[in-house]
Amino acid sequence: MSDAPVTPYQEMGGAPFFATLVHRFYEGVAADEVLRRMYPEDDLGPAEERLRLFLEQYWGGPGTYSELRGHPRLRMRHAPYRIDDAARERWLDSMRRALDHAMAEHDLDPAREQELWHYLVGAAFAMTNTATDEGTSGLLMHENPR
Ligand code: HEM
Repeated sequence: MSDAPVTPYQEMGGAPFFATLVHRFYEGVAADEVLRRMYPEDDLGPAEERLRLFLEQYWGGPGTYSELRGHPRLRMRHAPYRIDDAARERWLDSMRRALDHAMAEHDLDPAREQELWHYLVGAAFAMTNTATDEGTSGLLMHENPR
């Protein structure tokens, strides 16, 4: 037996839990026409793998994400995409449904579920990089040329 501390990753159910969560999430993305358009690749499989490896690493699992992708720098990696309030809410809706499913399937401890959800909401707000009313305020500024 090892004395190594149990990580949140292990407590959450390890690889099978994250595989279910992220797979379900991407099923939601595939079914959401606004989100689906934002993902550049035809095949969502590689994106699914990147998010899964990132979340596993973040919660104390294997460091494979950084071995393959380097430092996460997630805000920078999201800069090419226009993530406004609506996109964020759709992303979170899909994640909420995926988490409900994965939680039931893997018997996730409710305290861990709360911790994970709190993190995901905070991270999704941090990734929002486009104000919803940007277009409108731009127009108003140029409304009266004199
Ligand atoms: C707020 C709404 C969000 C939207 C609309 C969004 C959208 C996207 C898109 C379009 C990509 C590119 C697909 C790819 O190449 O992998 C991507 C990548 C990624 N996203 Fe998000 N994202 C959001 C929030 C988040 C959050 C909250 C996290 C983490 C908790 C996250 C983690 C990632 C990761 C790890 C990648 C792959 C980065 C890489 O290694 O290239 N995203 N996201």
